[in-house]
Formats: sequence, C-alpha cells, structure tokens
Amino acid sequence: MEFLKGAYSMLPHKFRGGRDPAEQAVLSTKTVVSVLCAACSLQEGAGVPDLPNHGLSPPVYPSPPGSGSTNGRWTTAYDRARDLVSQMTVEERVNITQGWPGICVGNTGEVPRLGIPALCFADGPSGIRGQEFVSAFPAGIHVAATFDRDLMYRYGRALGDEFHGKGINVALGPVAGPLGRVAKGGRNWEGLSNDPYLAGAGMGAVTRGIQDAGVIATPKHWLLNEQEFRRRWTELGDAVSANVDDRTLHELYAFPFMDALREGAGAVMCSYQRTNHSYACQNSKLLNGVLKTELGFEGFVVSDWDGQMSGVASANAGLDLVMPRAGFWGDNLAEAVRNGSVSEERLGDMAIRILAPWHYLHQHTAYPPPAIYTNTQKHFPVDVQADHARLIEEIGAAGTVLVKNVNNTLPFKKPKFLCVYGYGAALKASPWQNRDRYGGGYEDNFGWNTFNGTLITAGGSGGSSPPYVVSPFQALQERVAQDRGILRWDFYSEDPTPYVNADACLVFINAYASESFDRPSLKDDFSDRLVLNVASWCANTIVVVHSAGIRTVDAWIAHPNVTATLFAGLPGQEAGHSLASVLYGDVNPTGRLPYTVARSESDYGDLLNPTTSSDPFPEANFTEGLFIDYRYFDKHSITPQFEFGFGLSYTSFAYADLSVSKTTTTTTTTDLAEFPDKNVRIVQGGHPALWEVVALAKCTVTNTGAVDGAEIAQLYVSIPGGDSPVRQLRGFAKVGPLVPGQEREVVFELTRRDLSVWDVVVQDWRLRRGVYEIWVGASSRDLRLKGELEVR
Ligand code: NOJ
Repeated sequence: MEFLKGAYSMLPHKFRGGRDPAEQAVLSTKTVVSVLCAACSLQEGAGVPDLPNHGLSPPVYPSPPGSGSTNGRWTTAYDRARDLVSQMTVEERVNITQGWPGICVGNTGEVPRLGIPALCFADGPSGIRGQEFVSAFPAGIHVAATFDRDLMYRYGRALGDEFHGKGINVALGPVAGPLGRVAKGGRNWEGLSNDPYLAGAGMGAVTRGIQDAGVIATPKHWLLNEQEFRRRWTELGDAVSANVDDRTLHELYAFPFMDALREGAGAVMCSYQRTNHSYACQNSKLLNGVLKTELGFEGFVVSDWDGQMSGVASANAGLDLVMPRAGFWGDNLAEAVRNGSVSEERLGDMAIRILAPWHYLHQHTAYPPPAIYTNTQKHFPVDVQADHARLIEEIGAAGTVLVKNVNNTLPFKKPKFLCVYGYGAALKASPWQNRDRYGGGYEDNFGWNTFNGTLITAGGSGGSSPPYVVSPFQALQERVAQDRGILRWDFYSEDPTPYVNADACLVFINAYASESFDRPSLKDDFSDRLVLNVASWCANTIVVVHSAGIRTVDAWIAHPNVTATLFAGLPGQEAGHSLASVLYGDVNPTGRLPYTVARSESDYGDLLNPTTSSDPFPEANFTEGLFIDYRYFDKHSITPQFEFGFGLSYTSFAYADLSVSKTTTTTTTTDLAEFPDKNVRIVQGGHPALWEVVALAKCTVTNTGAVDGAEIAQLYVSIPGGDSPVRQLRGFAKVGPLVPGQEREVVFELTRRDLSVWDVVVQDWRLRRGVYEIWVGASSRDLRLKGELEVR
C-alpha cells in the first residue's frame, strides 16, 4: 500500500485529483493501472498472436545494481563512483538523476562540494546539432552502406573528437532503434541499417570511436521505437505498443545494441513508445531484465526527452536519469525514498551508474567546459572541425551505391557537355517553396528544411549543422571547369528543355524523412515524371537519388535511356565532392544497399506502413517475427528490384575456395557446447562466450576486371531447424583495393552469437545441433560459394 501511495504521488497532475478538475475528468482507471502496473504485475496480453511471450512484459525486480565487475577499468570507475556517492545526501543523489535547464540539450544537476559538474548532453548521431564550427557527417544509414568497419570506427572517433572539443560529456547516439522494421519509418535513416549484424558492427565501431575520444556514447532508442506515428502519449491515448515475441526481441532488435555494450557504452537511452504494453522507460523486463541482467549493463539508462511516464515505477524498473527536467522525480523521488517506495540502494545505484561512466571515460580529471552558444551571445568560437571534411568526403563516396550502369556510362571520361536537372542538385532550390536560407532559429538544424534541395541529412534530432554544404552542382561545376566543358541546368522544371547534344543528363531527386512523422510514400510523382521526361530525349540519363531510406524506382529504372543510377544516401557536408569522385572514377564504388529496394511499394506487404490506429491503446503487432527486409523477401520468394547488400563496381570479382572450420578452441574439445557455460559471470555485452570465435570461413576474391577496385565480400548463414530466416548476414569484409588479376584471401570470423538462436524456454543463446549452411557472395542474392558447418 505504501508503494502505491508513493507511486500515486508521483503521477502527473493529469492522472490524479487536485489542481484541475478538467484534467481529473479525463482520468481513466485503465490509464492509472497502466502507469502503475509496470512495477507491480504481469502486463495483460490478451488477444495477441501465439508467439512465445508475444506482447508480454514479465516483471523483473528488483533492479540489479551495477557491479563494475566487467573489467578492471569499470571496477576502478565504480570504486570512485561509490566513494563519491557514499558522501552524498539523498537530495544530492536525486539532484544528479534529473535534467536541469542549462546550455546543453540535457544538463544534469551538479554537486559542487564534491567536484561533480553538470554533465552536458547533446545530439546527435551524425554531428553536433545546432552549433557552429562543427561538421555534418553522413547519417547512420549512409555509414552502414559502406560495409566498412574501419570507416565506421573513424567516423565514431571523429564525431567523438568534436563532442569532446565542445566540452560535451554525453553524445546522444549511435542509433539502432528504429532498426527499420517498416519501410516508411521516419527515423530509419538515423540507424545503421535494418540488418542486426551490420547495424551491430556499426554500433560497436561507432561506440568505440566516440568513447576513445573520451565521450560517453548513448546507443538509442532501447527498444522497438520502430515508428513515429503515436510514438508518444497524446490526447488520443497511450503511445503505440510494439508487441514482439521474446526470440525476435533478442535476435533482431537487441542484437545490435549488444555490440555497443560490448564496446563499453556508458549510457543507453530508453525509447518513447510502449514495448509489450509497458512504456519502454518503465519496462522492467527491458531495463532490469534484458539490459542490466542478461547484458550486464554497467552504465546509466537515460529517458528519451520527456519520455518518462511514471515516478516510482520507472525508478524501480531501472531508469537512472530523467531528461530534460525532473519529470516525476525531483522532490517526489526523495519522498519516495523516504517512504520506502524506492529503496535507498536503488537511488544510490542510479547515482553510481551515472558517475561510473564519467570516471570510466576519465572525464573527472580534465574535461573542457561546454562551449555551447547561441548566436545572440558574443563569444570566442571553438572550432572542432579539424580535417574531418576529408573523412566525410571519403565516407560519402564509400556509402554511395551504384545500382545501374549500362554501356560503360560511368565512370565519366572527361565529358564536355553535361546537363543537370532536378531540385536535388543544388541547395534549397525548390519548385514548391521559396526557401533559400540556412540559419536563423531552428533551421540551424539543417535537416529540418532541406527536403527541396540536396539532401545531406534528414529531419529532427538526428540532423546536423554543416559549416557549409558542397552541392552536386558545385562539384560538377568544378569538374567541368577543369575539363573546359560546358554545363546547362534547370533545378525547377518538371519537363526541362532538351539539349540533344549533351554527353549526359544528370537528374537529381530525393526522398525526405524526419523524426516525428513517418514517410507518406517511398516515391513521389513529380520526381518520377522528371526522370521520365528527361529520359524521353536524353539517351544517357543518370539518376542520382539522395534518400533518407528506401526509395522505389519502378517508374523509370528499366527505361533504356536511364543508363546509370546511384543511391547517394545522406552523405553529409561534402555531398557533391563525394558524388563527383564516384562519377569520375577517382573512387571505384564499394557502397552496398543497407536495405531491400522492392520492385513496388506493395511488395513490402505489412512491413510498408506503420500502425496508424486511432485506438486509445494502439498496438503494433510484430507478427512477422524475425522476417523483416530481405528475410521477408526471401521467406516469401519475392524478387526485389535491388536486394540487400547489392551494389556495382567498375570492375568485377571472382570468388573461390571456400573452407569452413571450427576454431582450435572448439576442435580441441570434442564438440561445441550447446549453451554458454552457466558458471561464467556475465559482463557488459552479455555472456563472454557469445563473443568467442567458434568457426572460421575462408575464401579467395580475385579482381577479374580491368581497373583497380575493392569488393565487399558478404557471408550469410542458414541456421538449421527450419524456423530461422533463409539466410542472415553474419560476416562482411572490404577486400582490396585489388589491381586487375590480384587475388586475396578473406577470413570471416563467426562467433557463438552469430550462430546461435535465443531459446525462449531456457532463456539463453543456444547453438543448434545440425548442419549450418554458409554462403559467401556479393549480396544477399548473389551467392557465389556454399559451405557447411556441422554442430554435433
Ligand atoms: C527526442 C529524440 O527521440 C532523441 O533521439 C533525442 O536525443 C532527444 N529528443 C533530445 O533531442
């Protein structure tokens, strides 16, 4: 009863009696129950599909205190954090578990007498948002398209260096939630692709990069934030509930976060929506259970901004820090500790978890003060751009995917006469809106307003603030000037004037997306008509698509005059230079599609649209389970336009000599144990055995073409048992650059996790006994070699 009293006192006013009778009138018993219930009982799951634990959030209490036992570095950080917290009063502890108004997007409370400063939090995943003298990096989806771990790391490191230089303690990224379940998801572009393995590689590498720079990384949004529509509580009712079964939760959605945790991520942001009927920031199964127990998380869970939905319930379910203000905590949390609704240990654990990463990243020794300004303040500018423009250009090119190239259209051979068409070629040139401005209020966040110009990022907190933007038009002008050629352009017309003498016509279109809404369509008629109109007279029409996710191309891709097409992603501030380096062949393309491009929108079936229910308690049932994107297309034998992992090169490659073997560790024992050893302690990232390399696959790749180039070799696994996806990506490597005729051996390391399924009964990762099929090739459908691995 005490507990319920404490919980009730922390409900928002709209849920309890008192101030506003109108608010009181909307109080519904069911709402109160749903707010309280995450902390007290099994959530109801009636009427949900018959999949293991589908729609259920079993209660997991008490909240496991962080132990610092992952490794010596965490132990030292915990010793220091515990020492500080032991000297703090309840009020001081409460003070650091909440956001306060300040100069950063989020600011924690400070404890000056103990030398604990306000920690500064800032967006976002592809560059510091809303600031000056910072870089605009490619978006997550673009980085994923590089299939290049080295670039992923260097991206994270450069990002981290900029956050560090600006005195920002906590970077709000990288993103693997949304993963990209629905094709029209508004924020899919922020994340590192809808394949959990590729996203995991990115999450791990970017997290390591950010934290090597001394900045706390915040993988987000945990978990299942797969649509924007009704992601939050509104007057219509509760946020959407993402209902998923236990196996899918582990193998698909939690999977990429594991890599970030393994690399030491110091924070995790919980998401807005409900997961299995319980708000993610008060879902004890997700926070206490999966994150803090199974995955041994040592750091702190921070709420998404204003995403806290209850006081006591969220504290006991494992939330450690509420942003950007006190929310339901503050004095109420102190009161809840005094009346026993929240234990002193729990509050202490929150504070320790917040201060441990601060020590883990050595931010307690010397950290620059936040250099965060508004343009109305006179200040000394702090420039953190360094030479990141070169890296941005490199990643921009490496994530550009060539999907069509006939008649040796590309690379260009010093063309003399180019025509450039379409609103996407230049900055903010719009046939619909008279906008040509960057700066002034919220437009400092470039992505909000750029959907009619070159798309270098997209909208919302994942957008960036470029110092400048090199448009494709600018870069093409530079090249044409060098070659003493000529250009003609028209950024506005849907049906530009023909120049039949042009060497090539470049048509620039885009597909915009943003946080807070989902995409209305994967294509638009204006752009499709523009391409067709140009192609009707220009025999060499090259289409460049900058897109915040999937863009279908069925209207024109087969047109004989469309000779080349590039998915140029969201490449950041050097967009034009990146693209030109691929067009002119300075860079031989290695970008690969990080999603499936269907022949028509309807091919995505139920995975096209978000749930748009107007029900007070909307539900999104993830009944497809593991089968999203290419797994869905493979399962239902649907031929895509361009499959996941696909991308062309200016040269060609041959694959040969696949061998698959267990590693020495596993072959010296007679067999691979089905389950990881129960007696081994869990560390951050999960059971250590999950990360052991248990098998190796080797093959050779040879450049069989006429020019230098690198290949992205991909490994897919078919897990025995008949209930897993036909094939799943479980390895990739950038091979080369190789000169013509050159051969190189590629080695793929397969970990226990890569080959395991989540056993919902035993509640553990399990190897399947039987024959695993191992496929190596150039995409998820261009499979060149096949081998086997037997687990007995
Ligand atoms: C809400 C977004 O969902 C989150 O990703 C972001 O970090 C915060 N706002 C802070 O801007």
